[in-house]
Amino acid sequence: MTTRYRVEYALKSHRRDSFIEWIKGLTATPFVLHAGSNNFFKIGDESKYAADARRKYAEIFSDVEDLVREQLYDQQLSGVGSSRLKQMVPSIGAFFTPLPLERAFYVQDEKRAISNRRMVAPSFNDIRMILNTAQAMALSGGADKAQLITFDGDVTLYNDGESLLPGDEIVARLLGLLRKHIYVGVVTAAGYPDPSGKMYAERLSGLLEGIMNCPFLTPELRSNLLIMGGECNYLFRLDGETGELRFIPREEWAIPQMLEWTEADIVEVLDHGEKLLFKMLERLNLSARATIYRKQRSVGIIPRAKNSIPREALEEIVLNAQHVLQTLPVSQRVYFCAFNGGSDVWIDIGDKRYGVLSLQHYLNNIQPVRTLHVGDQFASIGANDFKARLAANTVWVASPSETREILDELLEYIDDAEQRENQIRF
Ligand code: IMP
Ligand code: MG
Repeated sequence: MTTRYRVEYALKSHRRDSFIEWIKGLTATPFVLHAGSNNFFKIGDESKYAADARRKYAEIFSDVEDLVREQLYDQQLSGVGSSRLKQMVPSIGAFFTPLPLERAFYVQDEKRAISNRRMVAPSFNDIRMILNTAQAMALSGGADKAQLITFDGDVTLYNDGESLLPGDEIVARLLGLLRKHIYVGVVTAAGYPDPSGKMYAERLSGLLEGIMNCPFLTPELRSNLLIMGGECNYLFRLDGETGELRFIPREEWAIPQMLEWTEADIVEVLDHGEKLLFKMLERLNLSARATIYRKQRSVGIIPRAKNSIPREALEEIVLNAQHVLQTLPVSQRVYFCAFNGGSDVWIDIGDKRYGVLSLQHYLNNIQPVRTLHVGDQFASIGANDFKARLAANTVWVASPSETREILDELLEYIDDAEQRENQIRF
């Protein structure tokens, strides 16, 4: 039975992020009390309202910062457990670092003039940006300094379905990370089993060329670029001498749990997935517009040339795939993810959590606290970067230009932290 509860909550809640929504709710009160009126009668009123709103917003972010710190403490004692934050936002997951939210608020307030606004309250995007800035600050120095930064491909490094080309602005930022001795990983759902790595080399040609032509990178630093394809299925590493992508055998990097997934079980999940996708094609009258594509470690519905699949259909397919496949006994033995790629739907073996965990494992056990994953898909169902939250800190971007901006911030904070550390040393 389709109850109102199911429509309002179960089928929509996955599109919202409860932590961001909750913070947004907290900032609504100062907005109403201090920002409201537009009629300034006396000189100085405008600045006063903005200052009042800024002070109250900053206080809220400072309080949330304390709650996150408390939750970190609780996690050490009893797992994600029963922190105050968990009581207020029950779906909240584990944090790996403290988040300097008050400082991050001041940075974003300067850029986005949040407290100068009279008619538009702090938004989902304002808060997402503040969280991103705080995460970048937390990973800039000291014991939590980032060692591995992984990036989603589509919509994060390049526009949907496009490639990273020579001269793309983001390339210089990725070179900046490599120069700082940070491993750079691309963890993408795009799965190309060919061990020559030709497809990845083509889609990332701008990055590979940029790295090989960069005079400041030694061959060793160049080889700190890794590509994990098919969520967690194919690993390639850049050969810093030749500029080629080297295929790394699975046994060298997969975490022990993944090595238990048998070929027969993998095929069974994909068979069930394929059957379900066929059924959905028929049920949603999509056969003329879309087709099924089966690969070694994935199966998807993609639009036929010059066609597109309506957003509602994509969502219906992904929710059904998740719902049906997770009840199968084989899903207890092999992990899969189902996600809406914006114009297609895919069921992949494994997910980005395993992709990031495997990279950490391969790179001599880098810890989640020193890992950052940057991606665009963080809704809780039908989005494939969400699972990376279980293995790393995350930054949620909405476009490649946002990725560029947050990397500029991160590189600036790292420079700043290095300078401070040098001052202390001398
Ligand atoms: P990501 O954003 O880098 O994770 O890439 C997701 C996109 O990769 C999907 O929306 C698909 O268009 C594309 N893709 C190509 N091959 C695969 C596959 O085997 N599984 C999932 N996505 C794929
Ligand atoms: Mg993406």
